[in-house]
Amino acid sequence: MADVFMNTYHRLPVTFVKGEGAWLYDRAGKKYLDFSSGIAVNCLGHGYPPLVKALSDQAARLIHTCNYYQNDISPVFAEKLVRACQGVGMQRVFLGNSGAEANEGAIKIARKYSLKKYGPKRHTIVTLRGSFHGRTITALSATGQEKFHRDFGPFTGGFKFIPGGDLEELDRALDQKTTAGFLVEAVQGESGIIPQDPLYIKTAAKLCADRDILLMFDEIQCGLGRTGTFLAMEPYEVKADVLTLAKGLAGGLPVGAVLAGEKAAEVFQTGDHGSTFGGNPLAAAAGVVVLDTVTDPAFLKEIARKGRALMDAIRSWNHPRIREIRGRGLMAGVDIDREAWPVLEACLAQGPGRTGPGLLILSAGAKTLRFLPPYTITDGEIDLGLALLRSVLDA
Ligand SMILES: Cc1ncc(COP(=O)(O)O)c(C=O)c1O
Repeated sequence: MADVFMNTYHRLPVTFVKGEGAWLYDRAGKKYLDFSSGIAVNCLGHGYPPLVKALSDQAARLIHTCNYYQNDISPVFAEKLVRACQGVGMQRVFLGNSGAEANEGAIKIARKYSLKKYGPKRHTIVTLRGSFHGRTITALSATGQEKFHRDFGPFTGGFKFIPGGDLEELDRALDQKTTAGFLVEAVQGESGIIPQDPLYIKTAAKLCADRDILLMFDEIQCGLGRTGTFLAMEPYEVKADVLTLAKGLAGGLPVGAVLAGEKAAEVFQTGDHGSTFGGNPLAAAAGVVVLDTVTDPAFLKEIARKGRALMDAIRSWNHPRIREIRGRGLMAGVDIDREAWPVLEACLAQGPGRTGPGLLILSAGAKTLRFLPPYTITDGEIDLGLALLRSVLDA
């Protein structure tokens, strides 16, 4: 086949044609256990029957209308989403298509909020070194990793990066005169699964509240049940002013959301923002199924239990190649003593002959293995996947 894609991805040598539960199948019929969920997207696994049914029913009824009009499913989804996020202070939502787009919305909200109250000089958005907020120019400008910035300047101005965990730097950066917002991942994903320190988040929340700086959580990778609570920020017991979600929100369809609480819910007014596909009926129908599932406390408890089992099992190996294990729920990072990519390749190639099974895992940074299995994975599948991984690490 002609090579028509731009060279943006380093793809592994496999072509998937079918998925079922925690399994994917390639062209030759070989099966692979999926510990990646399409990078936290297929959170209910592949071919989840209620999701398939909701999508096929909705596709037959109505796929898209533009935002000149209303439809009967997007408000159902939006209301469920706002309700689910009420505990952290959310009141209204804007629906888009991706994480980067959600963060763009968050940045616009913080800028306008601050501009209207304090004038144009107070526009800085503070983010953390090592953070990841997306690939559009402004989301990249918010991303605190040099390697993503190479070659693409000039960037959107008005961003400041600080090292996570440093309370003095935080205090300095959250300057009442210049700063509009602080954007933070409760658990950093792309930089290696790094949960924030509770004191750090509590301090940030207090400083933001005292100085009227918007506290904005990027839960695009870590939210929606991934860490065993509906939102990863919940255990920190703070409220957000703005919250962004995407990835798993429609279980595999593109959707992103920026939510805002009391201070910022009314910032966007007619004409301020928009998105042609944002929260269209098909994505909304899928989102309803995801939310109905991942807001169930018993379901969340199971995610937490399976995540503990996965990490405890890896810890119990005391493996000489493993340096550190971090994570919460079904979001785990394992630092190893060598490059992660060859391990990914070897896991994929596991399983003799044409049937497999192979194992799909991710990396996060050069030497970190990343695990984001679907929430519906069984204990037996976790054991099997770990056995496959271990044989690769032992080799
Ligand atoms: C924390 C976080 N924010 C934003 C994004 C960007 O999301 P998207 O790729 O949907 O634009 C990602 C994607 O990995 C992410 O992990």
